[in-house]
Amino acid sequence: MKIVLASDHGGYRLKEEVKKALSERQDIDVADLGTDSEESVDYPIFGEAAAEYVASGKAERGIVFCGTGIGITMAANKTKGIRCANVTSEAYAALAAEHNHANIIAFGGRFVSPEDALRYIDVWLTSKWAGDRHERRVSELDEML
Ligand code: RB5
Repeated sequence: MKIVLASDHGGYRLKEEVKKALSERQDIDVADLGTDSEESVDYPIFGEAAAEYVASGKAERGIVFCGTGIGITMAANKTKGIRCANVTSEAYAALAAEHNHANIIAFGGRFVSPEDALRYIDVWLTSKWAGDRHERRVSELDEML
């Protein structure tokens, strides 16, 4: 599976930790759209870039990072076909996959440790989309843009 990563300066360090860990996995191919340092940049640009990458089929999923995970989630969700969830716990990671069919998740680099982020990513990747009654709701979301 290909996973695209992107962050602003607030999520940069966490992105780098996640990139290192995911790059060691045989089953995951990682693309990194930046940013490349802790120099201040604008999260909408990086959230949009990751969202377009997933929406155009270049990666199956994405993980985005900013200081809180909030701004970059907002940015990613402006692209049609993207369902991005800001994840702060294992339960959110599981439900984002099962109920919301999230194809991108976000983390706040100032609030989530690398260990927790990697655990939440595993939960998200292994949790199954439940479909059924959630199918209609997710279709309604996709029709909004
Ligand atoms: C940048 O200082 C910060 O606002 C950004 O990383 C993010 O937390 C926005 O939601």
